Amino acid sequence: MIIRKAETSDVSKLYTLEKELFSIKNYPLSRGSFAYHVRNNLLYIAEIDGNIAGYVLVLIKRTNAKLYSIGISKEYRGKKIAEKLWKVIYKDLISLDFKLFILEVRIYNEVAISLYKKVGFNVVKVLKSFYRDGCDAYLMELEYAGETL
Ligand SMILES: CC(C)(COP(=O)(O)OP(=O)(O)OC[C@H]1O[C@@H](n2cnc3c(N)ncnc32)[C@H](O)[C@@H]1OP(=O)(O)O)[C@@H](O)C(=O)NCCC(=O)NCCS
Repeated sequence: MIIRKAETSDVSKLYTLEKELFSIKNYPLSRGSFAYHVRNNLLYIAEIDGNIAGYVLVLIKRTNAKLYSIGISKEYRGKKIAEKLWKVIYKDLISLDFKLFILEVRIYNEVAISLYKKVGFNVVKVLKSFYRDGCDAYLMELEYAGETL
């Protein structure tokens, strides 16, 4: 498995994966959004035999970095790929001097919440009716305190 920064040439495959991962009601990213994020944010992919097994997208903000989306294709789940993707991008973000990491997650997405807790995020707030369909979100945060990675 190779973990690397996504490039413009990966956008079509990323969009195909996105449609597998997120139904319309979960607002999948468009092809254009992926193209934008490749240029303006941090988007890493896990590549296995030329296939994109998964991706992680972090939005670069002024005071923090937001874990915006992470997804692994069904056939590759449960193999710690999401955890590895996060660890690689997290290390790079630390070297870019980011200290505060945030994310929002649907309160019923237990698998994702478990992953986020495992890598060190904590719930700091419930955001009522955060999503357009009325679902609440947890705001989760992770602060880097200088520990060895
Ligand atoms: C969430 C997701 C990215 C996890 O990917 P994955 O590669 O299968 O996860 P990993 O194998 O790296 O697992 C890491 C941790 O996540 C949690 N986890 C993963 N699969 C789980 C499951 N089926 N049930 C409960 N917890 C689970 C566990 O804490 C796990 O650690 P453990 O194996 O030591 O218990 C994947 O399920 C997915 O793509 N889901 C659909 C998209 C999504 O909801 N993304 C998050 C919102 S943007």
